[in-house]
Amino acid sequence: MMKRIGILTRDCAGVNACLRAVVRMASYYQIKVIGIIREYEGLINNETKILTRSSVSGIINLGGTILKTSRSKEFLTPEGQEKAIKTIKDNDIEGLIIVGGNGTLAGAHLLATKYSLPVIGVPATIDNDVNGVDLTIGTDTAVNVALDALDKIRDTATSLERIFVVEVMGRNCGYLALRVALAGGCEEVLLPERKFNIEEMCQEIALGNTKGKISWIIVVAEGKAKATEIAQKITEITNLETRVTILGHIQRGGRPTALDRIIATRMGSYAVEALKEGETDKCIIIKDDKLSTIPLAQAIKPKDIEVESYYKLIKFLA
Ligand code: F6P
Repeated sequence: MMKRIGILTRDCAGVNACLRAVVRMASYYQIKVIGIIREYEGLINNETKILTRSSVSGIINLGGTILKTSRSKEFLTPEGQEKAIKTIKDNDIEGLIIVGGNGTLAGAHLLATKYSLPVIGVPATIDNDVNGVDLTIGTDTAVNVALDALDKIRDTATSLERIFVVEVMGRNCGYLALRVALAGGCEEVLLPERKFNIEEMCQEIALGNTKGKISWIIVVAEGKAKATEIAQKITEITNLETRVTILGHIQRGGRPTALDRIIATRMGSYAVEALKEGETDKCIIIKDDKLSTIPLAQAIKPKDIEVESYYKLIKFLA
């Protein structure tokens, strides 16, 4: 029976709700939870704190992560990994719950395979690029935050009859851009998963312009192109004025939506159960509203998202 587990997290909305669920579920089973500060950096530098039921009160509605996070280059080296293992041993940590996106989960897979540690991953990233997972923690909030911004941009785009190019996050995956473009009623979306011809789009803009359709909102996934460059080209080709908005990190913050809190709470609780039952090298998923696990090796493979049906709908309804 496990007595002490560790948890480390990346940041996005819903991660605190997950942390709360882990700590409280573990406390039910009389398992102590060691919070690792600053993700893999904290694991290397032995930055830890005991998390109790009360230390996670009042956090279900908070964005970010109370454990703080980092991007650790040192963890990619064998020396860094040895230091991380020492921290795990020094703190008598018998199993780990690791909450984050692709990179973070790749670290979880490494600890489980190279160092034979019991490790469970929980998918949390606004990119929704974890393979085999319908919806990662943080995505729903990010879509809603971006949509709220987009709605405001539309007010001025419509009033001033202008072309706006709005850049949203999503390093290698266009999920966020696609959802925001559909929900925001946008005219165009540029995605890493799709070829794009700027000349054709400009012809469409110019033709629309002659018929009185002057205001356009074009969503660009950051993994595809830079909004500033796209806007510049549109102006060069069409001679029409453009404006650019880069939404950036506001999408990773904010109060988690109900959906994010719910999936985070369910996944966090289930992660404790899975670890307790002896599962390792697994990622928590929700399929058909049921919790289960898949191998971490599968979760960290590139993810294919459904693009064409969404894209066609966006264009058809624009
Ligand atoms: O992976 C989540 C994400 O927010 C991406 O959408 C974005 O490209 C990246 O992280 C930004 O990373 P950083 O916060 O280190 O600049």
